[in-house]
Amino acid sequence: MKMWSGRFRQPLDPDFEHWQRSFSFDRRLLKYELAASSAHARALKAAGILSSDELICILQGLEQIGKSAAATPALLDDDEAEDVHHFVEKQLAALIGDTGYKLHSGRSRNEQIATDLRLYVRATIDQMRQELAVLCDALTDRADQAADAAMPAYTHLQRAEPVLLGHWLLAYVEMFLRDAERLADCRKRLNVCPLGSGAVAGATLPLDRASMADNLGFDGTTANSIDATSDRDFALEFVNVLSLLALHLSRWAEEMILFSSQEYSFLVLSEAYSTGSSAMPQKKNPDLLELVRGKSGRVLGNATALMVAVKGLPLAYNKDLQETQEPLFDSSDTLLQVLPLVTGWMKAVEFNNERMQQAAQSGFMNAWAAATYLVKRGVPSRLAHERIGKAVQLCIERGCELQDLPLDELQSLSPAFEQDFFESLKLAAVLAVHDVPGGTAPSRMRQAIHGTRKRIESLREEVHAHA
Ligand code: ARG
Repeated sequence: MKMWSGRFRQPLDPDFEHWQRSFSFDRRLLKYELAASSAHARALKAAGILSSDELICILQGLEQIGKSAAATPALLDDDEAEDVHHFVEKQLAALIGDTGYKLHSGRSRNEQIATDLRLYVRATIDQMRQELAVLCDALTDRADQAADAAMPAYTHLQRAEPVLLGHWLLAYVEMFLRDAERLADCRKRLNVCPLGSGAVAGATLPLDRASMADNLGFDGTTANSIDATSDRDFALEFVNVLSLLALHLSRWAEEMILFSSQEYSFLVLSEAYSTGSSAMPQKKNPDLLELVRGKSGRVLGNATALMVAVKGLPLAYNKDLQETQEPLFDSSDTLLQVLPLVTGWMKAVEFNNERMQQAAQSGFMNAWAAATYLVKRGVPSRLAHERIGKAVQLCIERGCELQDLPLDELQSLSPAFEQDFFESLKLAAVLAVHDVPGGTAPSRMRQAIHGTRKRIESLREEVHAHA
């Protein structure tokens, strides 16, 4: 039976009828639809609409639908179901007869879809945060293992200063921990229950909204029925947070691709995550990285699609909102697939420490530390900068590094140079001079690893508390 055939005299155009359905994609919400329907059924009983027997019958029927769908996925190949709400109603009536049709008393699909989607996004956020914790763990482990290994850091993609390999890896952890935090923030706001909002004006029966919300693990109820049935901010926030996450992954992928090229040779791609060329026998291509970078485009596109779908809608529910589901699901699926792969890649990659170390010691990466040497001996910073610049100029002419200049020549540039200058140019000294919280000095990185592990641990605890 259709959900709305009473006022119609003509049948629907069959192509239109088929085209307007959402069951092909909203079937994945079945679990949430069943949970929300059970909560609604209990409220109907409390409101005196269902008898105890009818309630039991409905609850058992709903449970049976969940079990049957899990055991026999073909059950979902239902050509008549308009959407997941219609599917459940049909199945329930088939299982328990006309009592099944009582379940829809006092509710609307508008509040149902709003509720199902909130439950879906909430569960996906928890999964995503779990995956982010695993990725951050893997990055932190690699930072820990890297110990004193150094590499060049770039600004403007020109060699700037040496840093610890671990310090560089922890930069990515910061991005991903911020993503996890943004997801938590989104979760906080979405965790209110629309049930009882009806089609637009509120339920037509005295339903206990607080107990329905409680039943479904929400922190409370939505405040306004017009907003509750038309609001997709939670989905918009979520896909935008995912866009930022995808953007971080894309930057990460881009840098790893660069560093894996022969020109850098800072890392050796694991064969398990690379592919060959059908034409060039020597090739080992960074396909995982390229696809991660490429998929970030579609995640960003999904966020745009969703925002544009909503931007012109008058209050309250409009069927356009059905169009927000597929981009939402696609962004979630894409990132839930990408994150464990990125973790696997991160664990498997081999760093070419020797090559990085070598690069960290050439190209005047110690020039700022050299200027700092003069500053510490009272030379005004701007003059120290200029003196070291002159020294660099000399080196470029001779094809050498700062440490290769003789002391007397340096002293003709500034009398502040002394024998210990050469000590301050060594890689270990250059790293150690960045001795501030958040800097690359080895002791600071060890502190950072410790702090990062604690933050990952509390992320895990939060995810666990929601499970
Ligand atoms: N399939 C619909 C959607 O996703 C469910 C809500 C339909 N409501 C309505 N009044 N036609 O938005």
